Amino acid sequence: MGKMRRAGEKEMDSKQKKGKFIVLEGLDGSGKGTQVSRLAEALRQQGRKVCQTAEPTISVTGGLLRDALGGFVKRDAYELSALFLLDRIFHNVNEHNGIQQYLEKGYDVVCDRYYYSSFAYQGIDADLQWVMDMNLSCREILKPDVCIFLDVSPDVGEQRLAESRTEREIYENSQTQKKVRERFLEVFRMLEGRENIRIVDASRSVGEVSADIIEIYNSLKEK
Ligand code: TMP
Repeated sequence: MGKMRRAGEKEMDSKQKKGKFIVLEGLDGSGKGTQVSRLAEALRQQGRKVCQTAEPTISVTGGLLRDALGGFVKRDAYELSALFLLDRIFHNVNEHNGIQQYLEKGYDVVCDRYYYSSFAYQGIDADLQWVMDMNLSCREILKPDVCIFLDVSPDVGEQRLAESRTEREIYENSQTQKKVRERFLEVFRMLEGRENIRIVDASRSVGEVSADIIEIYNSLKEK
């Protein structure tokens, strides 16, 4: 599968890739988890085969990342970038439940976070261009059909986290979330014309946000 693509070419041949690859991104507390599940369910109801997935994954590398995110092991931004990259390559290529094989089998893949999060989070303390180059030039890391950014102000995200969490991960504080949102928006400007990025106002009700996401998905099918 990866072998059949030219070096540096991330998009699968259209004959190979039969499903759609949809990524949801957003700040902590933006409602991504809920929306990923709702989209996956709506697609199943449309009769689609769906793989619902997330990063970090549940791989061994994902476990290392969870330890770092929980603050149990301290790692610098370059180590984190490299670990997220390794986890993402595994997420794409592993033969049991990797993204590439699901797309080939005609599944739609709905993914909670992807390389945009590495740019927005690690790109604050590590060199942003380096993080982007590592991910965007890796031919095994597929480019999504669309990245849907659930945009909430850091204050709304904070309020939602306060209601739902008793413990916080290393990035889950107002100051970092403000920087992360700015980085996301900056990166989306940098990727304009190269990636299909849609920004959705996620401060609205769950149902309104869901409806927009499904409309974006339906517009992909028409392409
Ligand atoms: P979540 O499971 O609550 O979305 O948390 C995952 C955390 O990992 C979140 O704070 C964002 C962070 N993250 C990165 O910093 N870089 C990445 O590449 C990814 C996928 C996640």
